[in-house]
Order: sequence, then C-alpha cells, then structure tokens
Amino acid sequence: MSVLDQAPPEINPLQDPLRFARRVPPCAIVIFGASGDLSRRKLLPSLYRLFYERRISQNFAVIGSSRTPMSDEQFREKMRESVSKFLEDAPFDEDVWKSFAQTLFYVPGDMNKPESYEDIRKKLDEVEKSHQTAGNVLFYLSTQPSYYAEAVLALGEHHLNKGNGWRRIIIEKPFGHDLASAQKLNEEIHKVFAESEVYRIDHYLGKETVQNILAFRFGNSMFEPLWNRRYVDHVQITAAESIGVEGRGAYYQEAGALRDMIQNHLSQVMATVAMEPPSVFDAENVRDERAKLLRAVRVMKPEDVPKYSVPGQYGPGYVAGQLLPGFREEPSVSPDAQTDTYAAVTFFIDNWRWAGVPFYIRSGKRMPKRVTDIAIQFKAPPLGLFQQETKTGPREVRPNILVVRIQPEEGISLRFLSKSPGSGMRVRPVSMDFNYGSSFGERSPTAYETLLVDAMVGDPTLYTRQDMVNASWQIVQPILDVWANTKFDFPNYAAGTWGPKASDEMLARQGHVWRIP
Ligand code: BG6
Repeated sequence: MSVLDQAPPEINPLQDPLRFARRVPPCAIVIFGASGDLSRRKLLPSLYRLFYERRISQNFAVIGSSRTPMSDEQFREKMRESVSKFLEDAPFDEDVWKSFAQTLFYVPGDMNKPESYEDIRKKLDEVEKSHQTAGNVLFYLSTQPSYYAEAVLALGEHHLNKGNGWRRIIIEKPFGHDLASAQKLNEEIHKVFAESEVYRIDHYLGKETVQNILAFRFGNSMFEPLWNRRYVDHVQITAAESIGVEGRGAYYQEAGALRDMIQNHLSQVMATVAMEPPSVFDAENVRDERAKLLRAVRVMKPEDVPKYSVPGQYGPGYVAGQLLPGFREEPSVSPDAQTDTYAAVTFFIDNWRWAGVPFYIRSGKRMPKRVTDIAIQFKAPPLGLFQQETKTGPREVRPNILVVRIQPEEGISLRFLSKSPGSGMRVRPVSMDFNYGSSFGERSPTAYETLLVDAMVGDPTLYTRQDMVNASWQIVQPILDVWANTKFDFPNYAAGTWGPKASDEMLARQGHVWRIP
C-alpha cells in the first residue's frame, strides 16, 4: 500500500503556537534561484517530505525560476534527481513523487528583466486557478545576495507584493555584508514588504536541538535558578566542521567564518541560551527577548578586538588520514587570501544575569570533526574537598558541565563528580546522557521543513527580525573592521586541528581552556 492510500495522520489545529503537526494552507511558492544548490539540496527535498507527510495539500504549487532554460518537465526531472539524492533519512516514494511533481512548474527568467516578473505573474494566475492556491504567495530569494534588493524592488514594481491572498518573502542568508549594507537592505525591502511579511531565514533557529534549548530552559524548573552569573563560570559555543569550502571558494573568500557562522547562526544560538524567559510563547515575545539579549552584548572597542577575538586560516593538513590542501590552495581562492576560515570571539553580556560571564564562541572549517555544541560550565564548589587523580598527580576539577549537543548526535549531557569504586575518596567525572535518537525513536524534521511550514502558516517565531539582524551585525562589526585592516600571518592552523594557538591563549588569559568536544 502506498502512503497516498493511507489516511492522513491525526493533527492538531492549524494555527498552533506550539507547532504541533502543522499543515500548510493553500499557497504557491516562487523560488528564485531554483536550479541552485540550496534549492536542490534543501528546499525541494523538504517540500517533498512535507508533501509525503501530507502536511502540504494538493492546493499547492512551486514555481521555480532561474536563468537556465528548462521546461516544466525538465525541471521536474532535475528536481526528482536532487530529491532522491538529498532526502535526509526518509524514503523516496515514486507514487508520492508523481503527485508532488504535478505541483512543480518552471519559469525561466533573468531577474534583471521586467518580462521575467510578468511571466511569473502569468504562472501565478494559472496555478491560482488550476491548483486553487487562494492567491497566497510565498517568495523565496535563494539567488546571489547581490540580487536581493533589486529583486524585491522589481516585485514591487510589478505589483507582485499584493494580490488576492497573503504575500510573504523569505530571504536567505547572508543578510548584508556588514551593518551598513544590512540596514540598507532592510530599507529597500520595507519599500515593498511590511516587516510582518519578511522572513529572514537562519536555519540554526529551525534545528530541533536549538528549539529544544527553550523547552529545556523554560519547561523545567531545576535549571533556570542556576542559569546566571552566580553559578555559571563561562559558556563555550563550538561549531566545528571537517569540510573545507566545498567549491564555494569565491563566496567564502569574501565572507569568512565570522560572517558566515558567528554573525548569524551562533549569535542566535547565544541569544537562545542567554535570553530571558518570554512571558508568552509567541513570535513577538520570543523575538523581543532574543533581540534584547543581542542588544545587551558588549560592543568591543577597537583596542579590545585583539584581546577578545582570534582569526584563523587553515593550511594543508590531515583530516581522517587524508592530506588536504590549505585554504589558499582551494579553487577560486587567491594565494594570499586574508580570509578567516576560523574565528573565535569572547563576548560579554552586560545585563544583571550575565555580567562578567564570558561567552566563548568559535567556528572553523577543516577541524578534526563535525560537531556543534554548547557547554555551560558551572563554577567549582566553594571548597575543593575532593581532587581528581590523574597520571600527573591529583588536580582540582571543575565538575559540572552541561553540554547541549546540537549535532551530529543530538542530545544533552550533564557531567558531575562521582566517587570511584574502591577504598579512598577518589573521584572522577561521570555523565548523565539524554540522546534524542534513542529517547524518541522517531525522525526529527529538518530545519528547512520546520521553517518552510512556519513561513507558509505565518509564524515568524524562528525567523530573525530586523532589529535582531542589526544587533548581531553591531556586535561583530568592530571585529570585522579591525581584521580588515590587519595583515595576519596565515595560515595559522593545520587542517585537521582545533584551530590556532592564539585561540587557546585567549581563553588561558581568563583561566579557561577549550573543551575538546
Ligand atoms: C551555512 C554556511 O550557513 O551553514 C556554511 O554558509 C556552513 O558555510 C553551514 O557549512 C553549516 O550548517 P550546518 O547546518 O551543516 O551546521
């Protein structure tokens, strides 16, 4: 029996702020940049999966658009290949695909040409009738970022921002290249779309484990009393990747790790870890708290930048036993590139809860493994009654660390001291583990599945708001400015290692060490 013959699963009401099995209302999605990587790897596989789970109805249509000339049939075939290849831990079902493919259309076009927008309008009119999409349209900008402003203005000129139903727009990262360009982009977008119609995507916010931070903090009462400067010594947020720049050398050379990961994803993760509890769990209250937190992060003075931030760039080295080239030897990268493929920053949050607690954030390419986690390190007990035996003699231990593992093995573990069996009070750290996979035994939706549904349902909780984007640019801008005017002696770490020595020294100055995740 195919899934199409099965009854749809029982679901809870649509507009549910707690996001139980939400279903999508009739609508059309227009994807600009439809033949690009993001569309093939993430967007179409996510939409297919939602269709498979019957969270998207038949009153739905995808209109892909990009410069490549293609017919609807060719587009469907190309997407079929991508979906079957990139679908994450889910089966590909031919029958479901056949129905899903009937919702896919393609409009070739150049975003600089007015005719392209007219062609899209015609197609939208057609699908509104043929697929009863109720005039609701979600635009998805997945093109080169330099086209964003132009495309939005053109949508306005061709009156595509208004229609029979709602209109919304998802804007992919990077949102601007610095604070000034992000502000300018916001201004341009607001000429055409109201803030409530703008969905700036940060896929980290859609990850199950990042959402779980809120459930963990605010759904339990035992952690929140400890979640402050009185008990927390410092926080480490790590996003390490073993991959290099994977054919994205040209983009990455201009971006660098600080822009690519810290300005957006990791500052949102920090905000989620450190924000105050919202009084109500809804979009504006949650986003208000995240924004407030980001505004409380201390903006560095230029003279403090070398003390509190470290850039790195990988040279050749071994990952999993394989010798890999350095960043400067990667395709489309200049041999004297000053790009940071690693960045570590110490942030301080100037509010009552966190004053004086360092938040260390690091992200790098070509690290020994792929791992993203958050470690809350608690203060040592006031009296060191016990010492841990080590090969080099007894030492005092910092016993309590709470680790939230975002990926790849999603879960939470709490480390504490325990007496070792045998005579004498020998102690050693042990840990209590929660693992998503084994506890729930079911597949989690991917970040893009969650976020696409939310945008179609009209819930922006997990999307970034204008003030959040500005605040996160504000905190990295002084670092970007100082780094842009400094000549670094790169490469300063070998591929397959945990980053430059200077990063360890940054923590050592405060009496801390990076955990090996
Ligand atoms: C993207 C960055 O936003 O996030 C990439 O541009 C990075 O460079 C990716 O590899 C990491 O995402 P994830 O979900 O694999 O951790």
